[in-house]
Amino acid sequence: MQDGLLVFPPTPAVAMSQLFSPLTLRGLVLRNRTVVSPMCQYSARHGLANDWHFVHLGRFALGGFGLVIVEATGVTPEGRISYGDLGLWGDSQIAPLRRIVDFLHGQHTAAGIQLGHAGRKASTPVWWRGGFNETEAEKVDAGYEHWVPVAPSAIPHTEKHPSDFQTPTELDAAGIARITQGFVDATCRAGQAGFDMVEIHGAHGYLISQFLSPLANKRTDRYGGSRDNRMRFALEVAEAVRAAWPSEKPLFMRISATDGSPGGWGIEDSVALAGELKRLGVDVIDCSSGGFDGYGLQPANLYQVPLARAVRKAGIATMAVGLISDPADAEAIVANGDADLVALARTALEDPNWPLHAHHALDGGGDAYDLWPVQARNRIRDRDRTLGLRGA
Ligand SMILES: Cc1cc2nc3c(=O)[nH]c(=O)nc-3n(C[C@H](O)[C@H](O)[C@H](O)COP(=O)(O)O)c2cc1C
Repeated sequence: MQDGLLVFPPTPAVAMSQLFSPLTLRGLVLRNRTVVSPMCQYSARHGLANDWHFVHLGRFALGGFGLVIVEATGVTPEGRISYGDLGLWGDSQIAPLRRIVDFLHGQHTAAGIQLGHAGRKASTPVWWRGGFNETEAEKVDAGYEHWVPVAPSAIPHTEKHPSDFQTPTELDAAGIARITQGFVDATCRAGQAGFDMVEIHGAHGYLISQFLSPLANKRTDRYGGSRDNRMRFALEVAEAVRAAWPSEKPLFMRISATDGSPGGWGIEDSVALAGELKRLGVDVIDCSSGGFDGYGLQPANLYQVPLARAVRKAGIATMAVGLISDPADAEAIVANGDADLVALARTALEDPNWPLHAHHALDGGGDAYDLWPVQARNRIRDRDRTLGLRGA
């Protein structure tokens, strides 16, 4: 893939399903509508991607996904959820990501990255360790760091686990401006790494979500109080990132379309925000929910799809995510106009070849084999013919 070439030609298949039809976003053509949702691995040292990230992400390209979005990546060191997060606050972090991007491009999969700041939910334990239980030797090995987080207001995420969630320092105007600049600088580095899209992380009770929600934002300045004031930081970041990101590349924002709390951020607020984001040049709203202690929707099959459908009424493309696993459901989401893209996280971990399998389930044999990597395609077809599978 050459620099500046943003077109990912669909494989020669004549796709019958909507899920496996291409989607054009600005200058980017996705070969299909299947997306790997960002997934923190807490496996980086000093924010640098390594072989774990390369293999973890690369297998989704072999599996036929149209777009793979790299995990929440800290725009500043103190914006990391944990010391194990990826980062893009320094130039040395570009090259290992570039290696991943190049591999994805070689498989005709577009590469995206989620840029985030965790706010008061920063400096928490590496989730899969279950707590701050590192030995001194492990701390050295893993690049352990621990710091006091920053947030819109000096209120901890929860009182229940004070060792995991500290009381943050309230950001002043200069601190807010510094983080906005961090988003801009990280966006420029994402461009240098060759990414095709950037997603701003505005969901899950992290910094932007903390500004949006009255649950976490108790400010009395121009960033707090009314909904317009609480939206200000999200809109400033979106505007600054859009200005720094090439006009031919799409920009996504993930939001918690609802806090799932009475008196919190709700779906009407999200529709209003989405309209403003569209005006600023955001192309897709990735519709998630929750992130505040004690609140949230009850997870169930397809439970967040209605959020994507509601936000789409703002006249902007949306991505649905959350317990989507059946190919027929994914097809219906696109075909019914609930969303333009379908993102999978745990289902992708469970089956990195999910698009390959889903394409056969929806479109049978024939051209659907063309989604397989060229090294495997004809061998799989031969096997299926011998066994009488998939109408091969
Ligand atoms: C291991 C793991 C890590 C995650 N990390 C992130 C992340 O970095 N950013 C984010 O916005 N969501 C993150 N999520 C949430 C997923 O992107 C997704 O929205 C959620 O898991 C629901 O989709 P699923 O039911 O297909 O798993 C993570 C989820 C998992 C399972």
